[in-house]
Amino acid sequence: EKGTYPHYMLKEIDEQPLVMRKIIQQYQNENNELHIDESISQAMTEADRIYIVACGTSYHAGLVGKQFIEKWAKVPVEVHVASEFSYNMPLLSEKPLFVFISQSGETADSRAVLVQVKELGYKALTITNVPGSTLSREADYTLLLHAGPEIAVASTKAYTAQIAVLSILAAVTAKTRGVELSFDLVQELAIVGSAMEALCDDKETMEAIAREYLSTTRNAFFIGRAVDFYVGLEGALKLKEISYIQAEGFAGGELKHGTIALIENNTPVIALATQEHVNLGIRGNVKEVAARGANPCIISMKGLETEEDRYVLPPVHEDLSPLVAVIPLQLISYYAALHRDCDVDKPRNLAKSVTVE
Ligand code: M6R
Repeated sequence: EKGTYPHYMLKEIDEQPLVMRKIIQQYQNENNELHIDESISQAMTEADRIYIVACGTSYHAGLVGKQFIEKWAKVPVEVHVASEFSYNMPLLSEKPLFVFISQSGETADSRAVLVQVKELGYKALTITNVPGSTLSREADYTLLLHAGPEIAVASTKAYTAQIAVLSILAAVTAKTRGVELSFDLVQELAIVGSAMEALCDDKETMEAIAREYLSTTRNAFFIGRAVDFYVGLEGALKLKEISYIQAEGFAGGELKHGTIALIENNTPVIALATQEHVNLGIRGNVKEVAARGANPCIISMKGLETEEDRYVLPPVHEDLSPLVAVIPLQLISYYAALHRDCDVDKPRNLAKSVTVE
């Protein structure tokens, strides 16, 4: 039930702080240590390479998850779009482990790959919101998102839940492999929960940003470097899916290799700046587009901000910034769609779960 909310999407955006708490609780043992089924950490540790397979928003969460697993647990990861993988299979490593990410657990493109890799005799883990779903039943292992039902076609809380669960999977794998993390993930995820709450309480600002940048535009760009690029891809998908504005996400450094030709007077360019090592680089890209007439909207992380920034995110651990950076993007998309009289929860041409290949 959406209760007093005008749309499921808004309700589900608001549920994200609670989902963070639920996930922390579900993945802690009696000693308050992060815990996943031993068979899963074992499989993660025995693998020489992880292949993440997913579609849409779940694919975008996979891109963020790759960073955690490679950086923290030191296992190489490839992330693949399911529909491509089935006929364009990469050369596999000797001991691959497949990780399927799917909110619904019913996505046909992902299932086709699961069937294929099972036939080849490989092990698979499904990360899903729906216990007993097809992808969960057909895989060897399952990790649940504990996000509660997601009704709106545009995925919001499942994305952040997927990222949180992937962070836990990476942290536990690191520990099993004898790699010590330099921070306490439980504590950092709790900080993320509070930051999310502060962002969800700031809807008026998000609505104002949507009005200022997106109410009449034909197109919009999202730029970022490193993990901000991946969050930008998700921001662009959210915006195009529900507001029908042509939106694309780009790696900041790629702009000059073609995309910058699209910049016209007042083209909105939403730039994410949450990563210290690329802060200067992305700000350079903002200058390049601004010099060509773009209307830049910089969203930065507290500590990296400058006076020109439109929004400053509450500080969280740098690796976990996608969990907070995506919230303004979700809300801006929501209000852009609302201002354009679009059907927020049921956008045209789309179904909640895509059960055909
Ligand atoms: O249920 P799944 O996570 O497998 O769904 C994958 C995509 O169809 C889904 O994320 C889609 O891209 C969303 N509508 C995006 O908001």
